[in-house]
Amino acid sequence: MAERSTRVGRRPRAAVVAGREVVVWRAGDGAAVVMDRFCPHQGAALELGRVVDGALRCVFHHWRFDGEGTCVAAPATRRVPHGASARVHPSWEGLGYVWTWVGSAAPEYPPPDFPHLDRRSPAHRRYRFAFDTNATARRVLENGFDVPHFPVVHGIAGDLRLTWDAEVDKHTIGTRITTDSITLPAPLDRRPGGLGRLCLHLRSTPSYQVLTFELNDRPVAHELLAVTPVAQGRTTMHGWTVMPRSGGLLGSAPVFWGYRLQHWWGTRADLRIYRDATETDGSINTSDDEGVLRFRQFHRRWTGGGRGTGQPVRRGEGGTVSRRGWDEAQDV
Ligand code: FES
Ligand SMILES: [Fe+2]
Repeated sequence: MAERSTRVGRRPRAAVVAGREVVVWRAGDGAAVVMDRFCPHQGAALELGRVVDGALRCVFHHWRFDGEGTCVAAPATRRVPHGASARVHPSWEGLGYVWTWVGSAAPEYPPPDFPHLDRRSPAHRRYRFAFDTNATARRVLENGFDVPHFPVVHGIAGDLRLTWDAEVDKHTIGTRITTDSITLPAPLDRRPGGLGRLCLHLRSTPSYQVLTFELNDRPVAHELLAVTPVAQGRTTMHGWTVMPRSGGLLGSAPVFWGYRLQHWWGTRADLRIYRDATETDGSINTSDDEGVLRFRQFHRRWTGGGRGTGQPVRRGEGGTVSRRGWDEAQDV
C-alpha cells in the first residue's frame, strides 16, 4: 500500500523504493523526510526510533538526525562525530502522497502535475486506487501504449489509431489513441453504433503517467497512475481517477460507478496476465506493437544506463528497474 501523506508523522515508517530501504517521517517544520533506513552509527533500523524535538532519534544510542540528515546530537559522546549524517533523498509532498527521488542526487524531472484533484478545480467525483503486481514497472507503464491488447483484454472494439504527440520535454512521451466509434462489451453498451468518438490521451514519464479519456471531445476521466518499483518482483501502481460532474449522463453517478468498476475489472485482467508473463526481447512483433516498442525505447533511455549517474538497481526477468523517478514511498 502507498505511504499516504496522512500516515507520515512522528512515528517513522519503513519503506522500500526501487530496492532502497528508507524511513519516512515528518521533521519539526512539518516537512516529510525520506532518509536511508539504517543509522549511520551502528546500523539500527531508524523506524524503531522516534521524532524528538523535530529530529529523528535512533533507538540504539539516541543519536538524533534532522531533516537534512545531519546528526545534531549524540548523547553518549561529548561531540558529534565529524561527518555523521544519514542520507536524505529529495522528496515532495502532494496529491496525497510523499514522493521521493532515489536515483541521482537531484531530481531530473518534476513530480506530477495533476491539477484535477485541486479543490478549486470544477466539481468532480474521484477515487484513489492501489494495486500490487510482480511485473516490472516498465511493463505496467507500457500497458496504455499496447493498442492491440485493448480489444482482446478489455473488450474495447473499434478501429484504434495511435498518434504521437510532439515531444514537449525529455522526460515525457505522449500519444493519443483514438477511434471514431467505440463499442464497449455488451452489458455496458447497448446503443447501436456504440458510444461515439473516443480519445485516450496518455502522457508518460519513466515513473508516472497522466491519462485523459475523452468521449465525443468531452473529458470523462482524468487519471494519475504512479508506478513504483519496490523491490525484486514487486511493483505497486496507485493513483487517482477524477471524473468531472456535469448535468448530462456522462457526469452522472451511475457512469462514475460504471467507470470505476471497469477500471478495477480491466486492471485485474492485466494483472492476471502480468502474474505469469515473462520478458522477451521484443524482436518478434508487428506494426501494431509500435506503441509498446516506442515506449520501451523511451524508458530504456532512463533505465538502461544511457544517461547520467542513475544505475539500474536490479535486473529481473530480463527487465531493469530504475532507481530514478518520482516514486511514492512504500510500506515494506
Ligand atoms: S546505531 Fe543509531 S545511534 Fe547508534
Ligand atoms: Fe490493459
